[in-house]
Amino acid sequence: MMPAVYACIEQDLLAVEAVMNEALQTDEPRVAGLLEELGQFHGKMLRPALVLLVARALGPVTEDHIRLGAALEMIHTATLIHDDMIDEGRTRRGQPTPHVRFGNTTAVLLGDYFYTHAFHIVACMHRPELMQRLSAVTNVICEGELHQMCARRDVALSEEEYNRIIHAKTAALCEVASAFGASNATHDQTQAAADYGKYCGMAFQIVDDCLDLSGDPQKVGKTLATDIECGRLTLPFIHMLAEIKDDAEREALGQRLLSVQSQEDVADVRALVHERGGIESAIATARHYVKQAHQALEIFPDGQDRQVLADVASFIVEREF
Ligand code: IPE
Ligand code: IPE
Ligand code: MG
Ligand code: MG
Repeated sequence: MMPAVYACIEQDLLAVEAVMNEALQTDEPRVAGLLEELGQFHGKMLRPALVLLVARALGPVTEDHIRLGAALEMIHTATLIHDDMIDEGRTRRGQPTPHVRFGNTTAVLLGDYFYTHAFHIVACMHRPELMQRLSAVTNVICEGELHQMCARRDVALSEEEYNRIIHAKTAALCEVASAFGASNATHDQTQAAADYGKYCGMAFQIVDDCLDLSGDPQKVGKTLATDIECGRLTLPFIHMLAEIKDDAEREALGQRLLSVQSQEDVADVRALVHERGGIESAIATARHYVKQAHQALEIFPDGQDRQVLADVASFIVEREF
């Protein structure tokens, strides 16, 4: 499902999809058959939307913006294919995940296929500064996923460390997407665009972490509660635990979060974090990031296109999918 706020870039998003489809083309019939079976595996297209909407607000959308949007969406899709294997997510974008459909080996290779083709798109643009930025942010995402894995089951995870993890795994790519949109703009505008994307990305991951606990799986279109099942302490839990002043009580609750086994345990933990205000408090933090995203837009030319960027930031925290 595509957010309504993207209406003005509908045609450009179709062009992004065309670039992705063309890049993934192969003459090998067996591989082509696999890709055909994978079919349209499209999500909300947030990263290309950031490129295109920033580009519109600062000047004309060019072919390069379309290609960059496609490359970023393919990197993002590669991370999801691998992430769902790690998190044992069975549904994504309203369908069974690639590892469920094709097995782990094929899913690893499919993720790799998306990564390499994304890099090839940008390598062919002959703009080394863009290639450098894309490869650097991919390093950061992989490091973020590794960092998160190493931090699993640590009930003392600080908010500051959580912020570093979500910046690396999610916000950094949104930051680059917005900076790519401003690739023909002034230095100050590029910096403001990067800040806008970063704050949107931070809010986006916090809301995702809240949806994991309180979302409707039909609307979100993916397996939920994987954070609890993987022993991942997200912001709603961090805020909930921070409210408990008694060390022993906090430690006991932390252990309860880590000992989730049955579906009933999952339901109990979801209810608990809700009742104790963890979700509400995390959403308040996400709203704060949205406010910072709005502030970053202040140096953009006033007008309809800037307003759409502001609306995208607001959508991030209001969304149910
Ligand atoms: C999911 O991203 C992974 C996160 C960074 C939270 P999206 O919610 O943008 O996934 P799609 O692309 O719409 O499926
Ligand atoms: C994954 O975060 C973000 C990536 C960069 C892959 P999550 O594990 O929370 O994403 P979802 O909830 O599976 O989409
Ligand atoms: Mg996941
Ligand atoms: Mg999640």
